[in-house]
Amino acid sequence: MSEFVYGGDYNPEQWPESVWAEDVRLMREAHVNRVTVGVFSWSSLEPEEGRYDFGWLDRVMDLMHTNGIGVVLATPTASPPPWFTFAHPEALPVTADGVRLVHGSRDTYNPAAPAYRDAARRIAGALAERYGRHPALRMWHVHNEYGTVSYGPETDRAFRLWLAERYGTVAALNSTWNSAFWSQSYATFEHILAPQATQYLPNPAHLLDFKRFSADTLRDALREQVAVIRELSPGVPVTTNFMLPSWNHYDQWDFAAEIDEVSIDHYPSARDIEGETHVAFGADVARSFNQGRPWVLMEQATSLIYDYAAARLFAKDPGRLERNTLQYLARGATGSLFFQWRSPRVGAEFFHSPMVPHAGEDTRVFREIVALGHTLTSLAEIAEPPADGRRVNDARVAIVWDSIAWWAAETRALPSDDLAFLPAVRAVHRALWWQGVSCDVVRLDQDLSGYDLVLVPNKIAASDAEAETLRAFVTAGGHAAVWFFSGTTDENLSVRPGGFSGAFAPLAGIRVEEHHPLAAGETVQLSDGSLADAWAEDLQVTGAEVLATFTHAPLAGGPAITRNRLGAGTVHYLATRLDAAALGDHIGRILAEAGVTPEHPQAGDGVEIVRRYAGTRSYLFVFNHGESPRTVDLNGYDLLTDAQLSGDIELAPAASIVLREDALPDAPHHP
Ligand code: GLA
Repeated sequence: MSEFVYGGDYNPEQWPESVWAEDVRLMREAHVNRVTVGVFSWSSLEPEEGRYDFGWLDRVMDLMHTNGIGVVLATPTASPPPWFTFAHPEALPVTADGVRLVHGSRDTYNPAAPAYRDAARRIAGALAERYGRHPALRMWHVHNEYGTVSYGPETDRAFRLWLAERYGTVAALNSTWNSAFWSQSYATFEHILAPQATQYLPNPAHLLDFKRFSADTLRDALREQVAVIRELSPGVPVTTNFMLPSWNHYDQWDFAAEIDEVSIDHYPSARDIEGETHVAFGADVARSFNQGRPWVLMEQATSLIYDYAAARLFAKDPGRLERNTLQYLARGATGSLFFQWRSPRVGAEFFHSPMVPHAGEDTRVFREIVALGHTLTSLAEIAEPPADGRRVNDARVAIVWDSIAWWAAETRALPSDDLAFLPAVRAVHRALWWQGVSCDVVRLDQDLSGYDLVLVPNKIAASDAEAETLRAFVTAGGHAAVWFFSGTTDENLSVRPGGFSGAFAPLAGIRVEEHHPLAAGETVQLSDGSLADAWAEDLQVTGAEVLATFTHAPLAGGPAITRNRLGAGTVHYLATRLDAAALGDHIGRILAEAGVTPEHPQAGDGVEIVRRYAGTRSYLFVFNHGESPRTVDLNGYDLLTDAQLSGDIELAPAASIVLREDALPDAPHHP
């Protein structure tokens, strides 16, 4: 029998055992079937080096098992205890400014330090040995949100070894980095430091390699724990939770290859409909990293919306918790877990909204939690994995997601601060969302043949092989759009000669001679009336058709948006950053050209409609995120209200429908 997972991070070690009985009663009332235990419990599990205290965890595992609640067991390695840092001060993290941090919070370790890695492997092994076959165990959760970056002597040592392995000789490194610029040629690997604070701009290739190294270091730390767990606890799936989508301290594709299931933590920060677009984004990205398979929502908040700019923890409006959760389910989540079951009375994050609020069970939030548990139970049939190896959603559009591009944009010394990667990807995803079109993210070294349209925003660095993948996709009949500055450098940040955007310019039938970045806040109008900002360039066409031109001096009359036919497909090129309305219009045209339609003719403009496959059936998740009622033509059985629907159905603002479709699904788009 399939079921959606439901529950959250549970920290019984922070509470007297008398509270545990109440926890279990409330968990059962809320239909909780999963808890994540041990995420930061290192000092409770190993109070002194080598001395373990498993008594409390034995009792928790057994208690959960007796009550039919499965456990996602975490390794506590994201928070070494103070004894560790006293014993191994060299393993403390060092900032780019050379400040050595001390314990007192979490993540106070240098992932490159051997002492930390040994201690992490040991505690993971001890846990796997003791609980690897416990009947309550459902999944391993390695670490928490890998993302610690450290400088300092331990890092320098490891970085040099990594560089020696990558380059073989220091001459090869000097050549790739062009270290002769500002007289920084290295005589030996021993002279190379991690890029700590220096006098003026650092070398971008040095920075990029340091990001690669840091990502590989975290991947190795993950790999070591996964290996010991798999050995001692065979057959139990392993995950690690990605902090999405804002963290880029590792390569998500590489991480996904190390684990059995991708899980994410997701905290949209907008209180308005932008929050809904963000939910969709996180879910699409997570599913893509998990190769189109169902993925685990390891953390979301019950009622909190962080707004960093406003320095506020806002509350979610009533009903939003369920609506957002259904959105995640629509896009492939295996259920919903929360941070966290109960908040500590005191401790960092004591005002973070939990499942059982400080005010207790007689609260709106706990009532919504109970209702959501009930809803998930009634949707259990959708938790079944899709039959025939189908993907859980069948997107026809993909956005290129690439860590190198993201890291490249952070190396400074670029012609504009508006070349950032994530905002560009978000803007494209958002535009698709408003059009009612779902998408995946992909990297340019994978099979693209299941897609009709591939979008390439701000992919600064691109290898020859990646350019070739896109060429093959387009010539075979695919459609693509490439944004300004993409492919300007190779994968080592060397500018491609002969014109900017050089990796993709031949595919787009263009040549870019000079960049003309716009000032912050400056807006220009294109010949078709579109508004744009941030960027402009002196572009010539070498075969492409011009769809819109710049109208401002000195570029007036020069191409701004072009389209090129290549083989059986087309490549659009955008030499500027369109505002949301113009981007929506333009993406709408590209979708039409590529023959991509929304999943439902009435999807879009705030009505989100997503089809999820489960077993041999399909389900339509329908949401009205707008402020006025909307009518949607629906035929099937609504699992939320237990009613057969047919024809025009009116959806009130904030309403959701989960429809078991009458018709059997079409053949999948993806092979
Ligand atoms: C992250 C962490 C949790 C907690 C929450 C708070 O996602 O994994 O431990 O800090 O954020 O939002």
